[in-house]
Amino acid sequence: MKIKDFLAHNKKIIDSALEELLPVKAEPELITEAMRYSIFAGGKRLRPILVLSTYRATGGKKIDQILPAACAVEMIHTYSLIHDDLPAMDNDDFRRGKPSCHKQFGEAIAILAGDALFAKSFEVLQKTKVSAEIILRVNKMLSSTVGVDGIIGGQVMDITSSSDKKDRKLLKYIHTHKTGKFISGCMVIGATLANAYKNEIAALKRAGDMLGLAFQIVDDILDIKSTKKTLGKSVHKDTDKKKLTYPVVYGLEESIKKSTQLLEKTIAVFNEELRFRDTTELENIAEFIVNRIY
Ligand code: IPE
Ligand code: IPE
Ligand code: MG
Ligand code: MG
Ligand code: MG
Repeated sequence: MKIKDFLAHNKKIIDSALEELLPVKAEPELITEAMRYSIFAGGKRLRPILVLSTYRATGGKKIDQILPAACAVEMIHTYSLIHDDLPAMDNDDFRRGKPSCHKQFGEAIAILAGDALFAKSFEVLQKTKVSAEIILRVNKMLSSTVGVDGIIGGQVMDITSSSDKKDRKLLKYIHTHKTGKFISGCMVIGATLANAYKNEIAALKRAGDMLGLAFQIVDDILDIKSTKKTLGKSVHKDTDKKKLTYPVVYGLEESIKKSTQLLEKTIAVFNEELRFRDTTELENIAEFIVNRIY
């Protein structure tokens, strides 16, 4: 299957599971509407797809049983986008091809929709049909990659730093924390759900950390090279806000080179350390992440 068809097929599976877990009828109506607005605005669903593909790659066979965990990561991701767009953060009016949540519903409801998706994520995770011990391990992984040691820590440093000071160490901290650890966490979660071997989980974490960093480097590159229409979000906003990004510190060419090198190293981990598994899907997703245009 071509990567585009593969992604579209898996996105459909995720979207119908999300539809069940976030039904229209839930009350209060306004917050449900705002949560659904941002979740179903679009989005590539790469994080839940990584959960599914890692699960399959490490021997998992019952996709239906782990869909709640895949949806849980998409809920957290969407919450992080809603809050990232708020006027107090990146002040972005456009997301996933539509007005941002706060543009549509106002700031208060957007903040609450983000909070609600965050909480919903952990509620939904409990519906995953695996042992309590595995749910506990996934819960630990998820909460650590999205909290202060992950997304929040990265976002704090993103907001408080600027491109005036081209601090390479800080830049790497921001990118690995605001984006990388969560991407890596999704892969670890998929493998944990499949009850993979410890050494496989460790290898996937290492691959995921590199792929996750590449993901954010590419996001920085697209902010310069792409268009609002293709991305479904505003462009050139990093320069306007003096964000500390890879292109600012290393230049565009070197940033592209770095993302390609990270992809090569990621694929090498798949080929060497997971050689007894079929990692074709993961390799294709990794290539898409680095070579994508949106
Ligand atoms: C955008 O993530 C935010 C970052 C962490 C770079 P995605 O590019 O995965 O956004 P969606 O989910 O497709 O909208
Ligand atoms: C966002 O990074 C990372 C998150 C945790 C949401 P960006 O601020 O670069 O993401 P975009 O470009 O707005 O999607
Ligand atoms: Mg941001
Ligand atoms: Mg942003
Ligand atoms: Mg960006």
